[in-house]
Amino acid sequence: MKYKHDVVIVGSGLAGLRAAVEVSGKADVALISKVYATRSHSGAAQGGIAAALGNEEPDSWEWHMYDTVKGGDFLTDQDAAEVLAKDAPRAVYELEHMGVPFNRTAEGMIAQRAFGGHAAEFGKRAVKRACHAADRTGRVILDTLYGQALRKGIKVYQEFHLMDLIVEDNRVAGLIAYEIATGEVHVFQCKAILLATGGFGKVYKVTSNCFANTGDGVYLAYKAGIPLEDMEFVQFHPTGIHGLGVLISEAARGEGGILRNGRGERFMERYAPALKDLAPRDMVSRAIFQEIREERGIEGRDFVHLDLTHLGPSRLKEKLSDISSFVRIYLGVDPSQDLIPVAPTCHYMMGGIPTNLDGQVLNEHRDVVEGLYAAGECACVSVHGANRLGCNSLLDLVVFGRRAGKKVTEDLSHLSFASLPAGPEKGSLAKIEALQKGNGEKAFNLREEMQRTMTEHCSVFRHGEGLQKALQSVRSLLGRYGKVGVENKARRFNTDLLEALELESLLHLAEAIVASALRREESRGAHSREDFPERNDEAWLKHTLIQKSEEGPRVFYKPVTVTRFEPKPRVY
Ligand code: FUM
Repeated sequence: MKYKHDVVIVGSGLAGLRAAVEVSGKADVALISKVYATRSHSGAAQGGIAAALGNEEPDSWEWHMYDTVKGGDFLTDQDAAEVLAKDAPRAVYELEHMGVPFNRTAEGMIAQRAFGGHAAEFGKRAVKRACHAADRTGRVILDTLYGQALRKGIKVYQEFHLMDLIVEDNRVAGLIAYEIATGEVHVFQCKAILLATGGFGKVYKVTSNCFANTGDGVYLAYKAGIPLEDMEFVQFHPTGIHGLGVLISEAARGEGGILRNGRGERFMERYAPALKDLAPRDMVSRAIFQEIREERGIEGRDFVHLDLTHLGPSRLKEKLSDISSFVRIYLGVDPSQDLIPVAPTCHYMMGGIPTNLDGQVLNEHRDVVEGLYAAGECACVSVHGANRLGCNSLLDLVVFGRRAGKKVTEDLSHLSFASLPAGPEKGSLAKIEALQKGNGEKAFNLREEMQRTMTEHCSVFRHGEGLQKALQSVRSLLGRYGKVGVENKARRFNTDLLEALELESLLHLAEAIVASALRREESRGAHSREDFPERNDEAWLKHTLIQKSEEGPRVFYKPVTVTRFEPKPRVY
């Protein structure tokens, strides 16, 4: 089938939906989602959305901006951090007015709680800045925005997988999508595409990400020649359920939870004397691995304990009901009585498709790609730098999703439909045919090997030798990918085929992560090199860009935007 819309938004998480709400009524807008829209991964976000409302104690957007910059280990572009922190109160009140059921203070204001790395008076003490709806904040915002999108009559193509972007002469012409229910391949012609396809935690074995987070939009931008930014910065959330990676929200520590090692010690006191368990995630994840390496894991094993027993059943029920139910279901543990086994889990990608503050995608010359926009985790406006603070993601999605939506609307006055090349879907059809004919490699074997390699050599701690091994291994997997065949030849709901298609994205993104990590010879934020343990601003205060080329990925750099805060050592 051929479809024609002014604007196609890919991804139905918070960034995509917020942008869609902005554009609708002003243009013909369609939304494509790989999953049923309300199953998008934003719905799994638990702890909250940051905004300096000052409802529980004094706060200011300047402190929020500073924390965002410092949390990002000064790789954060400070113009972006300023937009984020300044716009946050407006964004949260807007959500409230749309119907998001936030928790309330006794006076009826939006309730707020402490979260990692958020502090008062430029880092002096933890501050309550996370607005929340128990521990299902993403769920309620997603449902609210989806309701708004439906109310505005947005056309949604559910369970359509993005297969290709048609970008010619630095200008968008359309995209190709695979309909999971029927196996049909569709052509969409449009004036503008907004990518909001989320992250790609599935590169790793243990992750808090859902199955759909395979980075299709990011990979297709990369394949179209757009360089990816800061791909080496991968966030590991300190508290995934041990062995499973299912998220136990940082809100648990925001409400007073404590991490304990095998000796029962509150070990974060040693690593971050001021903020302790509420230090930023990169530091807490490293601290957990350090405890494990020094044989202070639980019974010498590879996890520590999260202690919520002192919070009491009623607080757990009111503020942490989802995670309480997760640990009951997955571990058979009662958090009011028992300690919870936790270990770091791959959670978030700081890097992605480079954009300006209005979501316009930038090419290798830092010029705008006509008609191409990105927002949310798939984008890198570089507001999170080398390490994102908890609760700044939901905020990023609605702040920059809205800005991108506004810019698309404005640009429609000069954007027109570009003509499509002949048979634009041919490449996608050929790819499907090749996978259905192939009978050598199995996609799941390759995926498992990639995840093992990335987890072993490119997670919380990294070393040049390990990264070299990982690069070789991922490149050999990329070679083997050409021989992948799927056994299931059905057209309807062929998840075997879908997973094989997704694997192409994951493998290329894994290569981009490792190649970028190998080149950055310093430790900064979530990128911790054991062979280069110090941050080195003189040589490395710059963003990495990696671009596909005939000879393999090409790495180059661009400066960081520093406005108010000069880089200084990060102490918590
Ligand atoms: O821990 C959490 O609830 C996660 C929040 C976030 O990633 O922003």
